[in-house]
Amino acid sequence: MSNYHIKHLEEYFQVYRKSVRDPESFWEEIAEEHFVWRKKWDKVLSWDFTKPDVKWFEGAQLNITENCLDRHLPTRGDKTAILFEPNDPKEEAQHITYRELHEKVCKMANVLRDKGVKKGDRVCIYLPMIPELAISVLACARIGAIHSVVFAGFSANALATRINDSDCKVVITSDGSFRGAKTIDLKAIVDQAMEDCPGVNTLLVAKRTGTEVNMKEGRDFWLEPLMDKAYADITAEVMDAEDPLFILYTSGSTGRPKGMVHTIGGYMVFTAYTFKNIFQYREPDVYWCTADIGWITGHSYIVYGPLVNGATTVMFEGVPTYPDHGRFWEVVEKHKVTQFYTAPTAIRALAKESLDYVEKHDLTSLKVLGTVGEPINEEAWHWYNNNIGKGKSPIVDTWWQTETGGIMISPIPYVTPTTPTYATLPFIGVQPALMDEEGKEVKGNLVDGRLCIKFPWPGMARTIWGDHERYRDTYFSAYKGYYFTGDGALRDAVGYYRITGRVDDVIIVSGHNLGTAPIEDSINEHPAVAESAIVGFPHDIKGNALYGFVILKETGTGRDRNNLRNEINQQITEQIGPIAKLDKIQFVPGLPKTRSGKIMRRILRKIAGNDTSDLGDISTLLNPEVVQEIIDEAL
Ligand code: WTA
Repeated sequence: MSNYHIKHLEEYFQVYRKSVRDPESFWEEIAEEHFVWRKKWDKVLSWDFTKPDVKWFEGAQLNITENCLDRHLPTRGDKTAILFEPNDPKEEAQHITYRELHEKVCKMANVLRDKGVKKGDRVCIYLPMIPELAISVLACARIGAIHSVVFAGFSANALATRINDSDCKVVITSDGSFRGAKTIDLKAIVDQAMEDCPGVNTLLVAKRTGTEVNMKEGRDFWLEPLMDKAYADITAEVMDAEDPLFILYTSGSTGRPKGMVHTIGGYMVFTAYTFKNIFQYREPDVYWCTADIGWITGHSYIVYGPLVNGATTVMFEGVPTYPDHGRFWEVVEKHKVTQFYTAPTAIRALAKESLDYVEKHDLTSLKVLGTVGEPINEEAWHWYNNNIGKGKSPIVDTWWQTETGGIMISPIPYVTPTTPTYATLPFIGVQPALMDEEGKEVKGNLVDGRLCIKFPWPGMARTIWGDHERYRDTYFSAYKGYYFTGDGALRDAVGYYRITGRVDDVIIVSGHNLGTAPIEDSINEHPAVAESAIVGFPHDIKGNALYGFVILKETGTGRDRNNLRNEINQQITEQIGPIAKLDKIQFVPGLPKTRSGKIMRRILRKIAGNDTSDLGDISTLLNPEVVQEIIDEAL
């Protein structure tokens, strides 16, 4: 019998040791007992971090949607799979049962097939948080197409880049989307992106807002009539465990977004097993993750992890502040949510508001609270614990990444004692390591370093779409034989991990990863800008906000500064999206540079954070005099 559901600390340690001592037989048991395979594997694991090349369950065949849907039909056909809570609280929630979801996914799969989509083809999904989003994801998986979901808050430009990078021929979108009091013309954004996407031959458009849209003859089709006509069953494509399931783009510290590729078998096993334990899911719990499916959290812990376990998963279309700051708690009460998983930025925003918004709701259904996306500060942790969990619901501070596919370091609730701001212990099968400046692993406790993982886990990304070399360089070259996460961490006296934040040029704003390079590129395209550098600085709600240091060209120096600031932010909004806008823009005469020409971000970070007491040695800079000028004019 495998240890699928860990129930006490002793068991955790025992199973953890087993998963490290003999990973292959450990994961083999889990995979064997809790999933449906068309054919079992020939080999559980083969790996080489220098290439890097990692394969789990090689030779096995399956379709992940048979695990998410078909196998539940006999026992859970009438159980709610997806509980859709619309943006407007006056609109009725939808309870989509496993049987209904199966039907809708099959219909959608038939629609895609009719449009020529075949196994291995890439399909871009650019949809708001409506049921069609989850249905589209699963429909792709049903026919073996690779989904690439692009968060519907990204701009036309960002969308086009992602569509072209993975050569998607079909895009699924909607007429518009509701976000709080706003309606966004999603189709118009897609139309704009299409100007740069000659390879797209089909646009499927779901109706949500009733916004009037342009439909291009022969390319654009309303989804509903096609779904109505489609047959409600389709044989699942038999896939290899190592076939790609999806591509999901994440920001890098340089240049283009990275299309992380996840494969089917390992990802399924890892997301399902982590979900079951880290949320202690038991029927008939109602689980709610507030993320958007446009991010990895939504892929793994709204769609795949919960559905593979036969859970009821809430899908929320709206925002935490609409119609008021009590919306999250109203929804928890309304649907008697048992597990609630959100981001520190949302907690901080709500903690600023009156407690009345919390106290008027009955939150007694809650059993587990979760957080993800960035370090949670102590104050927010306590607010969450005291006011939402009433001191009774353990908080799981889950550390992981788009690249890891699933949660890597986290307490198991009711099993691992929690400590505020600590992600605590590695999950079963995860082998973290901290590295020092010289690139050596630091052993023992009460140490800190750069966080690496030294052994493969089933959910890890296998490559970057179309650029395996970049995958190797980014993750496997800094420390030979290790996967490098880009984060710093410490390990305390009892072996608990605390993530201290990014050590590379990725800045996390409201839980969204932003690379400095693409934003700087966008700023530099402004005709009045000569050069720029952006850094993060502490922000009460967003965790970090962006501070831009901009050198103007001769022609720009006479212009109105506020107009320039607006234009720069407008440009960023168009090219990347509103999440990448700068909170502060300071025009500077120069940027501090090393003699080799590298911008000293460390100094800029200190200036932006208003902490210039100790700037370190700046005498070796190419232009040390510029530092004082920047400090004098700092915002
Ligand atoms: C950060 C999100 C501290 C971290 C699932 C990581 C966290 C990056 C935590 C990945 C946490 C995520 N505590 N930091 N609990 N969770 N991070 O790819 O810097 O959007 O590398 O995946 O978020 O962000 P991504």
